[in-house]
Amino acid sequence: MSEHRPRSEACARNREPILAVRRRYFATRRRVLEIGSGSAEHAEHFAAALPALTWQSSDVASHLPDLRQWIAMAGLANLPPPLALDVSGPWPEARFDALFTANTLHIMDWEHVRALFAALLAVYGPFNYDGRFTSPSNAAFDTWLKRRSPASGIRDFAAIDNLARASGLTLVEDGLMPANNRMLIWQSATTQAR
Ligand SMILES: C[S@@+](CC[C@H](N)C(=O)[O-])C[C@H]1O[C@@H](n2cnc3c(N)ncnc32)[C@H](O)[C@@H]1O
Repeated sequence: MSEHRPRSEACARNREPILAVRRRYFATRRRVLEIGSGSAEHAEHFAAALPALTWQSSDVASHLPDLRQWIAMAGLANLPPPLALDVSGPWPEARFDALFTANTLHIMDWEHVRALFAALLAVYGPFNYDGRFTSPSNAAFDTWLKRRSPASGIRDFAAIDNLARASGLTLVEDGLMPANNRMLIWQSATTQAR
């Protein structure tokens, strides 16, 4: 473990401007995963400034002993112990609703940069195609859903796929599953180009 925590002048300079932008975009986010946390200066600053957020730091395994020490010293309830994470995988099972990374893309090799952008979205459930139910049981389920809440209802595949495309995702799989459900998988364009 390191006795001396590296302090970055750049971090001291950039953390407030970064925080100002983050406040605008992360107001409704609750669990953030940081990639390549380094000496945890951003992690500590942002976790302290945004107490409603859980800030999950991470770094490659070789950096973890030091990072663990800095995170423990910060003593913040919303800054849990760091995860070992190399973007080339495997990724953690836990769910996050935002990713943050600082000063890493110019460090990683290009394959790792691409891996960072290789988002996968997998959705399982019933969908309509061309405005039609795929089975009588799905039609009955939709009636039941709408009675429960008019805002609910089986979605049209095309509408969902349009949302995914607008986020830069491309459908790579649409498979039939038990009981007339589908397994839909979208991938980011960077993964496609591999
Ligand atoms: C220049 S430091 C930035 C540290 C901190 N984010 C900051 O802004 O002060 C780059 C960090 O990226 C991490 N890193 C490099 N390759 C990585 C990879 N493949 N996966 C995850 N992190 C990686 C390094 O371990 C290091 O902590």
